[in-house]
Amino acid sequence: MSEQNLFKVTIDNITIDVPAGTTILQAARKIGGQVAPPAMCYYSKLQGSGGKCRTCLVEVSKGSEKDPRPMPKLVASCRTTVMDGMEVKNITSEKVIDARASIVEFLLINHPLDCPICDQAGECHLQDLSFDHGKSGTRFEFQKRTFKKHDLGQNIQLHMTRCILCYRCVFTADQLTQKRVHGILDRGDHAEIATHIEKSLDNEFIGNVIDVCPVGALTDKTFRFKNRVWFLKPMDAHRDCPTCSGRVTLWNRGDVVYRVTARKDEWGEIEDTPDGKPGWICNTCRFETKNAKDWVIEGPRAISRQSVISQGHYQGTVGMTKPNETFGAINEGRTPHLLMDIHDESEVNKHSGYNSKNNIENA
Ligand code: SF4
Ligand code: FES
Repeated sequence: MSEQNLFKVTIDNITIDVPAGTTILQAARKIGGQVAPPAMCYYSKLQGSGGKCRTCLVEVSKGSEKDPRPMPKLVASCRTTVMDGMEVKNITSEKVIDARASIVEFLLINHPLDCPICDQAGECHLQDLSFDHGKSGTRFEFQKRTFKKHDLGQNIQLHMTRCILCYRCVFTADQLTQKRVHGILDRGDHAEIATHIEKSLDNEFIGNVIDVCPVGALTDKTFRFKNRVWFLKPMDAHRDCPTCSGRVTLWNRGDVVYRVTARKDEWGEIEDTPDGKPGWICNTCRFETKNAKDWVIEGPRAISRQSVISQGHYQGTVGMTKPNETFGAINEGRTPHLLMDIHDESEVNKHSGYNSKNNIENA
């Protein structure tokens, strides 16, 4: 891309150059960290996504170099493209912080607080959003919505009460399967994901709706109530699959594979394969290949330290080199009788999940 096509944009006082046509959200993700607004409906791998949930609202305090007037209202950063010289406030704007708290309150009006029994707990974007931006109380005094149960095929469970109507699963079915049989029916308070006449979703790629769902509305029936994600050890693995990329994350406990998911990036979206295509996985890999022997294990999946899943998730020695032992060299060949492990005393390791109980070595 030539220099002329680059726009300068400043978000939370950090300036970067991005190609024309980039959205504010994508520009903020390039900066990374807290500067990137949360996104519950936008999904970069799905065309047309975004503009539904309003969690990504930001304040545009300067429209552009040519027209520096601020935008009168907060705008959805996932749907607003940058202009040259634009200045945006995300976490530096009180208006944004206030609006985001209201959006969380709105999303939780009908969302049940059933995290203790929900399979998405620990990796739920709404849980994270509430933790980071929500209020401690609610003003909602009415009964939450309830729905008739719908069966979405033999492997996918729909809990409509948890759905935030982000449309991601609808776009996924549209763009991956070419045979969408579910959608959002009705409007307003009655709007719901439904298959209308309870048709089964049996396309080979339909399992990906589970991965894109930001909440626990669509969950994997083969994993339901079997374990908690923070007790499992995520491992990158692959197999030679004739249908999909075969690049997955296995969620193991001991040798047992509890579930298989696509690999996700730092924004919770499907990671690209080395050839730059989204790494969607097929139903066979996801639901039917749960024997560790079927997979080539690559190593532990790196998990963000902010995630509860990282608790107790020691990444082992993959990619690390053990330093040479120096005792022998400096003690003229004599080795100590006892090595005390200083990690037993370290506060740091209480939070890192490193278990040092058995690490006192007799030499
Ligand atoms: S079921 Fe999940 S992915 Fe589908 S619209 Fe509801 S929240 Fe979004
Ligand atoms: S992520 Fe932008 S409106 Fe939902």
